[in-house]
This record gives sequence, structure tokens and C-alpha cells, in this order.
Amino acid sequence: MSEVAAVILAAGKGTRMKSDLVKVLHPVGGMPLVAWPVMSARQAGAARMVLVVGHQAEKVQEYFAREESLSFAAQLEQLGTGHAVACAHEALAGFDGTVLILCGDVPLIRGETLSAMLAEHRQRNATLTVLTTHLENPHGYGRVVKREGGRVLRIVEEKDATLDERQIREINSGIYCVEAGFLFDAVASLSNDNAQGEYYLTDIVTQAAERGLLAIAFSIDDPNEVMGVNDRVQLAAAGTVIRRRINEGLMLAGTTIVDPASTYIDGTVQIGTDTIIHPNVQISGNTVIGMGCVIEPSVVIRDCRIADRVTIKAGSVMTGSTVGEETAVGPMAHLRPETALGAHVKIGNFVETKKIDMGEGSKSSHLTYLGDATIGRDVNIGCGTITCNYDGVKKHRTVIEDGVFVGSDVQLVAPVTVGRNSLIAAGTTVTHDIPPDSLAIARSPQVNKVGWKLKKRE
Ligand code: UD1
Ligand code: CA
Repeated sequence: MSEVAAVILAAGKGTRMKSDLVKVLHPVGGMPLVAWPVMSARQAGAARMVLVVGHQAEKVQEYFAREESLSFAAQLEQLGTGHAVACAHEALAGFDGTVLILCGDVPLIRGETLSAMLAEHRQRNATLTVLTTHLENPHGYGRVVKREGGRVLRIVEEKDATLDERQIREINSGIYCVEAGFLFDAVASLSNDNAQGEYYLTDIVTQAAERGLLAIAFSIDDPNEVMGVNDRVQLAAAGTVIRRRINEGLMLAGTTIVDPASTYIDGTVQIGTDTIIHPNVQISGNTVIGMGCVIEPSVVIRDCRIADRVTIKAGSVMTGSTVGEETAVGPMAHLRPETALGAHVKIGNFVETKKIDMGEGSKSSHLTYLGDATIGRDVNIGCGTITCNYDGVKKHRTVIEDGVFVGSDVQLVAPVTVGRNSLIAAGTTVTHDIPPDSLAIARSPQVNKVGWKLKKRE
């Protein structure tokens, strides 16, 4: 079997997006548009990939900086799809396998569909195979002109088509597999003598036919797969399809999603079996959730690692945090980046955390801010506790050792260390270290003036 390389066209600006950001970097399902065809090409076995970049090339390259199998070809002027493919020649110099050509703005194509197209291409010994579908309304697409027996004769752009040709319902998806030798030879000899004055990649079909080489169509039923994204209405439509696929994949793998229509999970997220996701939940980025968890309604989770049997209660928001097993968070808790909670921890309502380590079995049940702190095991943080971590210039750390009981309404003015098993009385402002096994109390003694109210009234 010959090797497969992919060329992904992504040099266009995407004028109809009306955006400062190049079209192929607009996010959908948690990844830029162009990352989806790249993923599908990889799934179909493309060992090497060349991305043709033009508009905002640096930004596109930056996104893929760590993809070793991907290289870039610059197309400085967007002279057409044929010219774009020609720009990839140098990056594939010496390659003589099959080139899979994809568009950066056609995100819904599946890896398995590309594999099936490649298999057909090989089985029929074709030089060129074009992926097509039949549309009720083919407006705007290139039409596929065939001869009896199924050979493709040519592809004609709508703007160049005769009235008869415009009646053809079979359209060019812009996705092809082509033998490399023929491809780069053909794109080098294109002309731009057409309605748009562009070097059309589609003209290589005519060249194949003229040279007596076999060009075939691989037609698919699901028009969604070849849907192009040109504006933000189509971006949202593609997002709906991607979301449905992600949710269905998770459900079939053992996650319960109570209301898939209101559940937004990125393609990058992993979730274990028997975890239940309630309505209106958003889970994004590099999040991994374990087994048997419950994610209650209206929770937002980004870039978090959550162990098994964790409950995240309604309305909680968490970013860049790790949560140990059987821990409970919320309702309405806010875990900010670098929060690391151990197992069997409890974080209750209106608790905000940032850059903290909290050991196994510790609790902070109500109305608290914990930032820049190391908290040991079995610590109880009372209601209304504040780590005063910021002196206006620098951040300082609070250390609370194992077994400490922090009473309600305590301020810990960092840097400060509370020794193990100590107790801090309610209302205390802690300004210096507390040795282990101590009681710390700092509040003015209460005075009761008996009968004071009666005298006032007299
Ligand atoms: C193209 C096809 C058309 C097909 C349609 C499917 C041609 C001539 N026509 O038309 O038959 O039905 O796709 O969506 O190929 N690009 C570059 N450099 C360029 C021009 C385009 O990188 O110079 C990239 C774009 O960024 C885009 C892709 O190629 O990702 C397709 O280009 P576009 O101009 O949208 O092609 P269509 O006119 O839609
Ligand atoms: Ca065009």
C-alpha cells in the first residue's frame, strides 16, 4: 500500500466571517476549525501533513507548533485552490504516494469516511478520487460532470457552468485523494482562464481525463460531512453537529448525559463510565473526569482533573484544578487555577480557592476565600475565613497544618503558619505564627453593660 500524506488548504482569510481572526482559527467544539480536518486526516493514516497557510500564517503555525507530523507551506497570494496545492509541492518533494487533499474550513469530515475513500481509490486503482455528495440545493458548489460508467470527466464551478450543468446535483466537496506524481505535475500546468481568474484545483480532473487516467467519484450520503464553514451561521451549525457527535460518543462509552441538547463538552475532554452530567453543563479544555461522578446543573469546568466518585454541585465554576476522589464541591463554589484538593474534601457554597493544596478529609463548608495556601489533612475551615494573601505588592503563603480547627470569621494575614492541631477562636485576626496544639485568640473582650438600654429610654 502506498503511503498517504495530507495537504490541508487553509490560506484563505474567510471574509464572510467578518472577523479580525482568520477563519480557520475560529473555535468549534473546543478546537480551531482547521484542527478537525487535521485530526481526521491523521485518523485516516496520513503520516505526514502539510498545511497551506497564508492569512495570519504565524498564528496558525503557533497553534500547531507541537505537531511533529505537520509542516507548513506558505501561499503568499491566494491565487486559487490549484495554486495552493502547488505551494505544498516543495514540502512533499520526493513523496510518491497518495495525497489526501482537505479544506481547513470543512470540519465535519470523519476519519472513517476518508479511510473508506482511500480504500475505494486503491481498489479501483484510480489516479484521482473526488469526494462528492448529492444536494437538493447545490448552489455555490462545483458540479461533478460524469461519463457513463461513473468516470468523472470534469468539475465545473457554478460561475463557469452552463444552465444544463447547473442542474447537476452531485457536488464537489473539495476533498480528494490523488496520486502525488500526477498531482504536482498537473497543478504546475493549470491556467486561470475562468470566471474567477483563479487557478482551480478542480481542473486537474480534466487533465486526468485527457491523459486517459482514471478519475472517480466517492459519493457519501451525509451532506453534513462536507459542509463548509464560510460564516458564523455555518460555524454554529457545525458546532451543533460536532457537539452531538461528542455527546453521542460519550454516551455510547458509558457516560449519562441527561440533556444532550444543553450539554457542551469539548472534543478534548475525557469522561469515565457511570458519570452523570446534568443539564446546562459546559466542560472544556484538557479536562479529565473519572468514573461515577455527578456533575450537577449549570456547572462550568475548564482544564480540570477530577478523580472518581466526585460530586460537583450546581452552579460551580472551576478552572485548572485537580480534585481527589469522593470529594464534593459546591453548590456555587469557585475553584480557580492551581487548586489541588485531596480525597474526601468538602468545599461548600460560596467558597473561592486559588493556588491551594488541601489535604485529605479537610473541609471548608461556607463563604470563604482560600488563596496561596497549603492546608493539611483533616483541617476544618470555619465560615467566613479569609487568607489575606496580598499586601498590595506581593502575594504571601498561608500554611495550615494537619488537624487545625479554624473558627468562623478568621483572617489569616500571610505569611503565616498555623501549627498542627491548633484551634483559632472565632473572630481572630492571625498576624503571627501559631505553635502546634495551641489556642489562638485575638479579639477584644466582650463587655456587657447590664440595663444600659433601660437607662437610655428614661
Ligand atoms: C471549492 C471548489 C468547489 C467545491 C468547494 C467545496 C475549486 C476551484 N472549487 O470552491 O468545486 O465545491 O470548494 O467547498 O477548488 N484556499 C487557499 N488558497 C487559495 C484559495 C483557497 O488556501 O488560493 C483554501 C481556502 O482557505 C479554503 C479552501 O481552499 O479552505 C477552499 O477555497 P474556497 O475559495 O472556499 O473554494 P470554493 O470557492 O468554495
Ligand atoms: Ca473561491
